[in-house]
Amino acid sequence: MPRDFLTTGDWTRDELERLLEAAARFKRGDDTSRPLAGKSVALVFFNPSLRTRASMQVGIYELGGNPVVLEPGGTSWTLEHRDGVVMDGDKTEHVAEFVRVLGRYCAAIGVRTFAALKDWKDERRDPVLAAFARHSEVPVINLESAMHHPCQALADMLTIREKSGAGPKRVTLTWAWHPKPLPMAVPNSFALAAAQLGHELTIAHPPGYELDDELIGQLNEQAFDAGTTVNVTDDVEAAFDGAEVVYAKSWGSKMFYGSPEDDLEARAQYRDKWIVDEAKMRRTRGGIFMHCLPVRRNVIVTDGVIDSDASVVIDEAENRLHAQKAVMAELMKG
Ligand code: CP
Repeated sequence: MPRDFLTTGDWTRDELERLLEAAARFKRGDDTSRPLAGKSVALVFFNPSLRTRASMQVGIYELGGNPVVLEPGGTSWTLEHRDGVVMDGDKTEHVAEFVRVLGRYCAAIGVRTFAALKDWKDERRDPVLAAFARHSEVPVINLESAMHHPCQALADMLTIREKSGAGPKRVTLTWAWHPKPLPMAVPNSFALAAAQLGHELTIAHPPGYELDDELIGQLNEQAFDAGTTVNVTDDVEAAFDGAEVVYAKSWGSKMFYGSPEDDLEARAQYRDKWIVDEAKMRRTRGGIFMHCLPVRRNVIVTDGVIDSDASVVIDEAENRLHAQKAVMAELMKG
């Protein structure tokens, strides 16, 4: 088993299947073990959170452990992640010391560090998460980085299995209009996990909103290995045809990292067309509606869809708890 949980791409399909089975056991109440008894887990939040923070704190408690929540630049020191820099600016502490000190107190470190959407070439390498993993002597759990949100993706896969049954499904990941550019972590991780688990994946987005080339290559490889395909289209209506799962998410264009006003101008034309509404959902094969939350109602998805029986967003959010308990139990079983 890998030491960290940074992206599902570091884990094999069999390992992911075992995590999903463990998550289901936690959810059913069949596993009440307390593998974190006497242990603490650090939760480092550079960015806001509801679901991730609450579900991690509750999950650690339910596994018998103690969560230690830190907010660099807020309740803890500002952090530098680059190696070899002269720290004469606004950063007080280096990740190298921060994570190794935490490792003396805690059995694992979770970290949330969003993309700043300023420099695509730099941020696509996930530099802050990579620095945590490089310097840490205890397992690191990605709680959403610039490029990945594997805990969300694991919960999403559990939700699809619960709601739509086992086996490959026709899954559509659709871009949606949003009033500001957002990071790509959720769509990247959802698409990757869906391909790894053999779902038939369609990714719909307008021209200019392509995902990372390397990620697309990885998706195709994983899909090939799993005996399935990845289809990318800019035809949003056709993308809904026959879908059993609709996953909505907005993300920013790689071309406009550093110039959000240009992104907003480019996307303005997509506002009315790229929303999940009742008409599009009628094209699905009784498809469920998923979103990681938080979601802007009547921007990403209409009230009519998110309040319908097709919507599974609250169960999806609950599954964060069970999925993360499975990850933590696996990483810290020693
Ligand atoms: N889906 C998700 O990660 O939610 P939070 O940003 O509230 O943690």
